[in-house]
Amino acid sequence: DWNSGNVIAEQVEKIRAQVGDARVISALSGGVDSAVSTALVHRAVGDQLTAIFVDHGLLRKGEREQVENDYVASTGVRLVTVDAREQFLAALEGVSDPEQKRKIIGREFIRAFEAAERDLVAEAAADGEPIRFLVQGTLYPDVVESGGGTGAANIKSHHNVGGLPEDLQFELVEPLRTLFKDEVRAIGRELGLPEAIVARQPFPGPGLGIRIVGEVTADRLEILREADAIARAELTKAGLDGEIWQCPVVLLADVRSVGVQGDGRTYGHPIVLRPVSSEDAMTADWTRLPYDVLSKISNRITNEVREVNRVVLDVTSKPPGTIEWE
Ligand code: XMP
Repeated sequence: DWNSGNVIAEQVEKIRAQVGDARVISALSGGVDSAVSTALVHRAVGDQLTAIFVDHGLLRKGEREQVENDYVASTGVRLVTVDAREQFLAALEGVSDPEQKRKIIGREFIRAFEAAERDLVAEAAADGEPIRFLVQGTLYPDVVESGGGTGAANIKSHHNVGGLPEDLQFELVEPLRTLFKDEVRAIGRELGLPEAIVARQPFPGPGLGIRIVGEVTADRLEILREADAIARAELTKAGLDGEIWQCPVVLLADVRSVGVQGDGRTYGHPIVLRPVSSEDAMTADWTRLPYDVLSKISNRITNEVREVNRVVLDVTSKPPGTIEWE
């Protein structure tokens, strides 16, 4: 019978046998899979592991701090953060097309990661202990999916950020290859990871970059980050996280509508709430959220985020709508 303690002990043995005394690197994304696989490898080989976290500026409010502070405090993982926010903004300047955004974000992620990786490789070589392994948070469903890829996966190019090039320089360490998501979460809890990371709902690699319909700018990211944080906080407070698969919050950056606030006319942007219920993201239905929760979210966003004067609800199933707007 399945027990997270046993799986951890078993994987720790396997990782030690595979890695020996060599050094290992890992990419943390803020998501569950990379957090748990990295923590497992750290449990097995300690400071032979260095984790790289690329802040591409498309993260949600508090996510970098969650990784840098809470995750590091709970695991002791040696972490290198790459602040690539300017690099990503510059690369995304003037770009509105969703697929082009994905390509750019994927490309810049690899560039930022590889720059950090080169530094670590040089440092390790100077110590006479080359880095030979790279951790990947591949789950069982990923293994199955990439084995029998179908057309559905190609509707959007899911450039998973954290999806690294197949760098032949490294051998992969994939301690989650036989596990499902709920098992990975159980292991994360057993390893003492922060609940905010372990319970995190799916979040796309390109992050908020594909939740701004229009060009991505620093100001727009800030608006969306605030609105998203409010929606998430209220959904959590209402105890709805278990019912919702995920709830993209989308900024219609190129749309403006007239509103009134106090004595003044406003001309602001709409925010879309896209709460969905799903088993696997292939199909989804819009979640029937309680009106009082919707009302609270709407009031707070329009009061607290100056540039937003309207909150709208997406009531489209998938198909025909996708979960994300881009
Ligand atoms: P869609 O929008 O295609 O999304 O219904 C299905 C699931 O995939 C996530 N998603 C992405 N994940 N990179 C990712 O890593 C992407 O480019 C991407 N696009 C969508 C989405 O959040 C949902 O869980």
